[in-house]
Amino acid sequence: MNTKVRTAVIPAAGLGTRFLPATKAQAKEMLTVVDRPSIQWVIEEAVAAGIDDILIVTSPSKKGVEDHFDRNAELEHLLEAKGKYDELAEVRRITDLATFHFTRQGAPLGLGHSVGTAERHVGDRPFAVLLPDELMPDGGATLRRMIDVTESTGESCISLFEVDGPDISNYGVAGFSERDGDLVTIDRLVEKPPYEEAPSNLKVTGRYVFTPEIFAKLAITEPGRGGEIQLTDAMAMLIGDPGMRGLVIKEAGYDAGQKLDWLRANIELSLDDPEVGADVAEMLSGIVRARGLG
Ligand code: UTP
Repeated sequence: MNTKVRTAVIPAAGLGTRFLPATKAQAKEMLTVVDRPSIQWVIEEAVAAGIDDILIVTSPSKKGVEDHFDRNAELEHLLEAKGKYDELAEVRRITDLATFHFTRQGAPLGLGHSVGTAERHVGDRPFAVLLPDELMPDGGATLRRMIDVTESTGESCISLFEVDGPDISNYGVAGFSERDGDLVTIDRLVEKPPYEEAPSNLKVTGRYVFTPEIFAKLAITEPGRGGEIQLTDAMAMLIGDPGMRGLVIKEAGYDAGQKLDWLRANIELSLDDPEVGADVAEMLSGIVRARGLG
């Protein structure tokens, strides 16, 4: 087995029902955060972590995702003719981020099924999975550490985040047998457990580095909740065979697939943006003053 992680799989074939009506005719992954689609933020993160090969799993209604990472000769020609060289460089940069490949899921049979469609492309190598609506604006640091864990241990590594109180029962939850700083050895994975039965307060978040054994596990995963092939069910079979680590992260990032957190991502990331940050801060304090919210 080649142990270097070079490929990231981006599952983007879901229906995006939590964000209707915005997602009726456009992909959830293409919703803009500040100045680019959320999926571009996530791919830039993967590239910063050392990934140079991207496989995006799409569906027939998501052609915009494929077009976004493909060359657009007509647009490039027009920008050049108008002397808009900064915009031209930005448009070309998207295509040059990595080598892009696309595959179709066929039907939205669940996240596990979506990841399973990557087997032919990935083969016998470890690989990363990044959910394209979860933003982790840390310059790829978390994913890089997860890749290092998998490359040095030969075990899969997933990102985990501490959740206080009963809210934990809304998530996939990881129990662990050992903890060394921010690294845990996972011994249980449960999807949406009742609060009293949760094995810990660590929820599974949208970054994963898998060894190729995940494909054999997905192949024998029965449809679970909602008739979907659940990634968590296949991951649970990796525990002890060959093993599963967890990295406990300090910042949750943003779930841009739901309205409130998408808004929060736009506000916070625009405040960090060198071009508009100062103006956004002024605009926000103006709104707070005008509405008496302060
Ligand atoms: P989500 O459950 O967040 O996405 O799946 P969804 O199903 O599109 O959204 P809602 O819940 O209806 O609002 C996490 C990721 O997995 C992909 C989605 O595109 C999303 O990026 N996914 C989900 C697939 O690729 N295929 C599926 O069958 C389901």
